[in-house]
Amino acid sequence: MNSQPRRVENLQTDKGKVPVYATGIVEQPWDDYSAADHDTWSQLYARQREILPGRACDEFLAAQDAMGMTPDRIPKFSELNQVLTATTGWTLMGVEGLLPELDFFDHLANRRFPVTWWIRRPDQIDYIEEPDLFHDLFGHVPLLMNPMFADYMQAYGKGGVKAHGIGADALQNLTRLYWYTVEFGLIRQADGLRIFGAGIVSSKGESIYALESAAPNRIGFDLERIMRTRYRIDSYQKTYFVIDGFEQLMRATEPDFSPIYARLAEQESLPAGKVLDVDKVYQRGSGEGWPTDADV
Ligand code: PHE
Ligand code: CO
Repeated sequence: MNSQPRRVENLQTDKGKVPVYATGIVEQPWDDYSAADHDTWSQLYARQREILPGRACDEFLAAQDAMGMTPDRIPKFSELNQVLTATTGWTLMGVEGLLPELDFFDHLANRRFPVTWWIRRPDQIDYIEEPDLFHDLFGHVPLLMNPMFADYMQAYGKGGVKAHGIGADALQNLTRLYWYTVEFGLIRQADGLRIFGAGIVSSKGESIYALESAAPNRIGFDLERIMRTRYRIDSYQKTYFVIDGFEQLMRATEPDFSPIYARLAEQESLPAGKVLDVDKVYQRGSGEGWPTDADV
């Protein structure tokens, strides 16, 4: 264990930012957070909790409360772990920054979720390229309290180890699945569309945009469709995929992906903003009046 964890951020080069990977597991240096760090957490937490009721799925909000996260101060991983481990067997671990893919998959496959120990600077409140403590903890961790989602994340980790062994194309297909579900997924509840993706719930701008803007496509979940679809990492998404519930996600991802990877290797990728004739498209851009089972 490091006694002085590093803050590993993307590197600014003349070709733009490049990701830097770090493998170390670190003890959360909780006593070293500054008043400004705690204040950043408080501000972001309060701001998101103000807009998320009615936008984030009910499971997310209930789980966040049940875990004991509050706006008062940056949570201690050790305290959250007492609740999380008892509920679904997941454990949070501190990391310095992005992990290499195989390390990341291996942690998930063993129900360990890596959380960046450091929080963004005040000038990065509205936008930061790399995942920080706020994105990881506020965005990803609550749904690990949900038994079905907790199982999905572990299955994803195992699938990742497998895809890594198959090759770069398989890995790209699987990464797109993570992107369009765990990071940017929408879910249909009885009263309309809601957010469950961590990349959306941790962003005020995208939480509103994903549900209310008329600009992006919202397309019914389709595993192979997602695996073929490119994505943007430097702007709001052009397309969101909508699941009917976590059970649908579990069922659709249960089969062995090997034959799917082989089939997709023969096909072109689709642009992020494309809509196909066969897509089930959700038309409305407002929070109200989303299609119900009767009219889709
Ligand atoms: N069924 C997938 C496979 O065979 C594993 C997986 C499960 C991947 C859930 C993602 C999510 O590779
Ligand atoms: Co993330």
